[in-house]
Amino acid sequence: MIQPASSNEYSLSGQRVLITGASSGIGAAVAKAIAADGAVVGICARRADRLEEVAVACRSLGATTHVWSVDLTDLDGIEAFAKMVQSDMGGVDVLINNAGAGRRKKMQDISVGDFNETMDLNFNAPMRLTLALLPEMLRRDAGHVVNVGSSGTREFPPTTGSYVAAKAALDAFTEALYIDLASTGVWSHLVIPGFTATDFGAQRPGEEPPFPIDPAKVDTPETVAQAILRCLTTDDFETYPNDRVREACAEKRQDFNGYLRKRRRWFA
Ligand SMILES: NC(=O)c1ccc[n+]([C@@H]2O[C@H](COP(=O)([O-])OP(=O)(O)OC[C@H]3O[C@@H](n4cnc5c(N)ncnc54)[C@H](OP(=O)(O)O)[C@@H]3O)[C@@H](O)[C@H]2O)c1
Repeated sequence: MIQPASSNEYSLSGQRVLITGASSGIGAAVAKAIAADGAVVGICARRADRLEEVAVACRSLGATTHVWSVDLTDLDGIEAFAKMVQSDMGGVDVLINNAGAGRRKKMQDISVGDFNETMDLNFNAPMRLTLALLPEMLRRDAGHVVNVGSSGTREFPPTTGSYVAAKAALDAFTEALYIDLASTGVWSHLVIPGFTATDFGAQRPGEEPPFPIDPAKVDTPETVAQAILRCLTTDDFETYPNDRVREACAEKRQDFNGYLRKRRRWFA
C-alpha cells in the first residue's frame, strides 16, 4: 500500500490504478508512467483505437492492462461501469479522475445545455465515479482518489466559465473528501496543471479561439504525469506540476480584487 506523508519511497508495484481520459495527453502519459512503475493499469475514454495504442505501450512495459471504451457523460451508466472495473481488476487502489475537456464560450453566449454538458464531463462524472468506487476503498480502509483540476480556477478564466465552474466544483469536492475521509485510510488529492501540450486546446466549431500562450509556459504531459505520481507520496491536498504554476495560482489569492480588476481591463 502507498503510504502518503510518512515516506518518500513509494511503489505502485501491484497497485490497481484506474485512469480516466487515458486515450491521449496527460492520461496516456500517466498510464505509461505507472506501467513502468509496475502498476496494474486500467484505462478508459471514448476512442477505442487510441486507448489500444496506449495499452500496447503499457503492456510492452510489462503491465497487466485493462481497457474500457466508455463515454463518461453517460452518467446513469457510471455505477455499472464502476462495477465492471472492480470485477475486471479485482478492485481499485488508485482512481485518477483525469478525463476532461474545455469549452470556450463567453457566459453571455453559452446555452444551459452546453453548460450542463461541460459540468457532466468535468464534475458530475468524476464525482459519480468516485462515489461508486469509494465504498470498496473504505471496506479495505485504503485508497487514493486523484482529481485533475485546472489552474483556470486560480488564474483568470476568460471565455471558459463553464469549464472552470466545473473544475471549481471538483476542487471543492476533492477538499470535502480530504476532510471527511480524515479518519479513514483513503486519501484525496488535487493536481492542478497549467497549460499543457495536449489536444486539449484545439478549437471547436462555434467556440472562441485559444488564448495566445507563451511556449515557455507550456508543460509536457509527462511533467504533469510526474506530479500526479508525486501527489500519492504526500499528504498535500494540492500538487502543482512546477513552481511556475504554483506562483501563478498564488498571484490571484494575494489580491483577489486587484487581480480581477486588472484582468477585466485587459478584456474590456
Ligand atoms: N492541457 C491543458 O492545458 C490542461 C490544463 C489544465 C487542466 N487540464 C486537464 O487535464 C486533463 C487531461 O486533459 P489533456 O490536457 O490531457 O487533454 P486531452 O489530450 O484532450 O485528454 C482528455 C481525455 O479525456 C477524454 N474524454 C473526453 N471526453 C470524454 C468522455 N465524454 N468520456 C470519456 N472520456 C472523455 C479524452 O478521450 P476521448 O476523446 O477518447 O474520449 C482524452 O483521453 C483534463 O481534465 C483537463 O481539464 C488540461
